[in-house]
Amino acid sequence: MSETNSVLDQAVAVLKHNDRGLYTIPAHQMYPHQWLWDSCFIAIGLRHLDIERAKIEILTLLRGQWKNGMIPHMIFTPGKAYRHDREIWRSWVSPFAPDPEDVCTSGITQPPMLAEAIVAIGQKMTLVERRGWYRQVFPALVQYHMWLYRDRDPHGEGLTLQIHPWETGLDNSPPWMHELHEHLLPWWIRALEKTKLETVVGWFRRDTKIVPRDQRFTNIDAMALYDTQRRLRRKSYEIGKILDHALFAIEDLAFNCILIRANEHLLEIAKSIRAEVPADLLLSIDLTRKSLEELWDPYTEQYYSRDFVTHRLIKVPSIASLLPLYTGVISKERADILVKTIENEHIFGPSFPIPSAPLNTPWFNPRRYWQGPTWFNTNWLIIDGLKRYGYKHHADALIEGSLELVKDGHFNEYFNPLTGEPLGTPDFSWTAALTIDWLKK
Ligand code: GLC
Repeated sequence: MSETNSVLDQAVAVLKHNDRGLYTIPAHQMYPHQWLWDSCFIAIGLRHLDIERAKIEILTLLRGQWKNGMIPHMIFTPGKAYRHDREIWRSWVSPFAPDPEDVCTSGITQPPMLAEAIVAIGQKMTLVERRGWYRQVFPALVQYHMWLYRDRDPHGEGLTLQIHPWETGLDNSPPWMHELHEHLLPWWIRALEKTKLETVVGWFRRDTKIVPRDQRFTNIDAMALYDTQRRLRRKSYEIGKILDHALFAIEDLAFNCILIRANEHLLEIAKSIRAEVPADLLLSIDLTRKSLEELWDPYTEQYYSRDFVTHRLIKVPSIASLLPLYTGVISKERADILVKTIENEHIFGPSFPIPSAPLNTPWFNPRRYWQGPTWFNTNWLIIDGLKRYGYKHHADALIEGSLELVKDGHFNEYFNPLTGEPLGTPDFSWTAALTIDWLKK
């Protein structure tokens, strides 16, 4: 068996191992439910193996859609074992949530990768099949994007806001953790931090029993994230009430970049089936494309996330800084500036591409979750963008560098970008799925 073949077979085996029939869990033990953007990346890999199964992955995700159009970031696996997880969220406090007896979900969303997954699946079909597939999912997709603007762009600015770091999928990413520590840490968590009593919290954490502590977020950050989630629940996940006194309300750069690309896909789908896109949505889509430039800072020559209320840029770089490449709407000149940082070994270009935080910032930690390690999904987004900007050579090199990380069959959640060491939970679905996509394309 050639090396490529065996890596492919091993990746396929990981997806099989995590397959729950109608959806794929990200990993055993740590992530036993269905996650929004995970399922989208998984479907992008699955389409090469079994197109019907890839469609099912997405259709199962859509079963969780709320009556207001939101697609939740998690759909819980039924059964007694997970009662506690469902109870933490209690999504039934919202009148929009689906009947929990039928399908039980979280109360927030995740980056809108749905349109990308739909189109990726469509690429593997004949024209007739593709149109059928698009017609089947288009209404849910439009509802989702309309919800994103209605609920998350209340001032019609074009940029959507996120209310919890989990919504960005980059849970403890430096800009959000910077905001948390500078402005938003509740007094009781600060007190625990001072007295060092926070270590007690460690005893109750499930994640750090599975993965070494230094590879996950800190106890303080974990407490703050759960505290924020509890506040959202207390407000029944209702955006009006949440924004009255928001702890976090950030127009996240990564989320909005993914939305821009998703909007382009939505328009393409609509065109292909000659479906009408609601006029309001068309206006918002256009505005979002233009608004990205408001996140550009000419002094540091970078894009950043922005505080929703004050419009202050949060000038802390992270992997999100590179995602404007994925949108396809920035100028070639801007793209060149970003590519230079990938080429620079002291910024985003260490041995194993691409670190989730740049090496030249105090946040960089090669082992800690979204504060340094390399993740396959962000690599995939950046590579896709680079290809569309004509950086074929860079894209190929990044694919090669990513595949190097899994050549020994370790499809971990993330990797040390300096040494290539596999980190986080093993047998992680999107690492396997995106490996398949690169090998099969
Ligand atoms: C972690 C990641 C998030 C992912 C989830 C399930 O929380 O930060 O992006 O969706 O795990 O894999």
